[in-house]
Amino acid sequence: MKATAIANANIALIKYWGKRDENLFLPQNSNISLTTDCLSVKTTVEFSSRNKKDILILNNRNYPPSSKEYKRYLKPFLDKIRKLAGTKRKIKIVSQSNFPKGAGLASSAAGFAALTAAINEALGLGLNEREMSILARQGSGSACRSIYGGFVEWRRGKKDDGSDSFALQIAPADYWPDIRMVICLTSRKEKKVSSREGMAQTVKTCPFYPCWLKTIDKDIKIAKRAIKNRDISLLGKISEENCLKMHALMITTKPPIIYWNEKTIAFIHKIRELRERGLKCYFTIDAGPQVKILCEKKDLKELIKEIKRMSGIKNVIITRPGPGVEISKSHLF
Ligand code: PMV
Repeated sequence: MKATAIANANIALIKYWGKRDENLFLPQNSNISLTTDCLSVKTTVEFSSRNKKDILILNNRNYPPSSKEYKRYLKPFLDKIRKLAGTKRKIKIVSQSNFPKGAGLASSAAGFAALTAAINEALGLGLNEREMSILARQGSGSACRSIYGGFVEWRRGKKDDGSDSFALQIAPADYWPDIRMVICLTSRKEKKVSSREGMAQTVKTCPFYPCWLKTIDKDIKIAKRAIKNRDISLLGKISEENCLKMHALMITTKPPIIYWNEKTIAFIHKIRELRERGLKCYFTIDAGPQVKILCEKKDLKELIKEIKRMSGIKNVIITRPGPGVEISKSHLF
């Protein structure tokens, strides 16, 4: 009843921002992401009658049952799984990531994808990828995409029970081997407003939310065409536009949610300037201050040179399209 899984973070190109069902984590709009190859989370789980209570250890830190992380994020997910599996056994979870959590780097996506796959294996639930995607979605929406590698679409679905709201692979990791996503850390601080709280507030109070929804189908169509044709200019342009639209929603939420810091804004200007000079690079930003830059291998050297000249950058990580969730034989405990 012990198993380990490894999942990679995914970065949305067409964003998910807003739920139509808070309990089942059903999105208001379909969305598209790229699974990375090196922002990863490894998780070992064990269900045992020896465990008196659930134990959660993330990056060597213990989160007791009274912690917000356990109560708000983990417990509702575990309750669903225990019901599904018909077990009352408590779980021990040890999880290790190679990047900061809660800073807008999709740590919860990789975390819940790894957790879902590890539990599936440990309890012998026999879920296939689609079923795992549906389950992971209920831990953190974007986690349903990290079940798959490469380019992934999370279909909104129409049904009230969420059975048609899951991720699908658009193209595998090796379809576009020359694409790169450069992750630039502008801060290591944990964000003040979680994506879960932020998006709920946007749906409730942002006057532009209905306009956003009207534009999504077109954005998805363009992004899919760009991926199919390996067209970096088209994919970059639509990703940037869609990201700015999402941040416009955040900023016009009541009270406003502003995830950017001054370095995030400096990056936006820098990337636009580099583009004017002919470099094909495009930014995207999630619920945090970190900047992710899409480009192709041939432009990477020049781009990195320019980024390194900027002040206050904490870290730069170069990622490629990566694989979906995998089971590992080497356990963390
Ligand atoms: O699934 P969550 O609660 O981590 O929300 C993800 C929200 C964004 O990262 C901003 C967009 C996305 O599609 O990943």
